[in-house]
Amino acid sequence: MEYAVSSDALKGKIILVTGAGAGIGKQAALSYAQHGATVILLGRTVNKLEQTYDEIEAAGYPTPAIIPLDMKGATKQNYVDMADTIESQFGRLDGILHNASLLGVISPFDQIGEDTYDDIMQVNVKAQFLMTQALLPLLHKSQDGRIVFTSSTVGHSGRAFWGTYAISKFATEGMMQVLADELSDSTIRVNAINPGATRTAMRAKAYPAEDTDLLKTPQDIMPLYLYLMAPESKCVNGQCIDAQPK
Ligand SMILES: NC(=O)c1ccc[n+]([C@@H]2O[C@H](COP(=O)([O-])OP(=O)(O)OC[C@H]3O[C@@H](n4cnc5c(N)ncnc54)[C@H](OP(=O)(O)O)[C@@H]3O)[C@@H](O)[C@H]2O)c1
Repeated sequence: MEYAVSSDALKGKIILVTGAGAGIGKQAALSYAQHGATVILLGRTVNKLEQTYDEIEAAGYPTPAIIPLDMKGATKQNYVDMADTIESQFGRLDGILHNASLLGVISPFDQIGEDTYDDIMQVNVKAQFLMTQALLPLLHKSQDGRIVFTSSTVGHSGRAFWGTYAISKFATEGMMQVLADELSDSTIRVNAINPGATRTAMRAKAYPAEDTDLLKTPQDIMPLYLYLMAPESKCVNGQCIDAQPK
């Protein structure tokens, strides 16, 4: 399917992107801004967020905002405070791209350490839960709010050695489906993207020996990211869609 949106599909929209300093999240922030959105760049490494900010400014897109936050240590109160800040600055929120996540280590199940398990579930699942809860009132103030989660092929089909990462992505898809069903009578749409193999630091960590020239780039997979944030996707809800269908 072609996921076409107009060049100003996101004009005037306020969109939060987590993990906006690198990889797919950085590209999504740039692409959303290019299509007219004011992007709120959330991540843990400030200089990477500033780099994304500078690229958006240099391109002449709407001036973004930066929220430095380490989702590993963030508490419920941090997300409540963040929602207050967004409300006072923008009055509402039109979209969240839950993109940031941790891969952890590829290892046999019986060697997964408790700390590794807790860190991955904290960043990949609980942080998204707390953030979404805090931001839902602001999404309800949007004419057509969007929540887009990020899954993986191992988020709906378990695979040996993918341990906590796979478990966390199953949970992500579960959260997406529960929310989508609950919000189906509203104008908020909730979906997930499976990016497929994409040329980023996370992919290189998982597959250090592969030829990265053969991989799609974050830019290649943006049509689906734009579509699920845009008004064009108002009839799509509760789906996990492959950005690189076979
Ligand atoms: N690349 C692929 O082939 C692929 C395939 C399937 C699914 N995915 C999914 O796509 C999404 C993006 O992945 P990617 O490949 O772009 O990964 P990436 O290059 O490793 O980027 C991950 C981003 O998440 C941020 N992040 C990590 N821990 C964080 C924390 N505690 N608090 C705040 N931000 C944090 C990172 O910030 P720092 O840069 O500051 O560390 C980085 O910006 C992930 O959900 C991933 O699971 C990717």
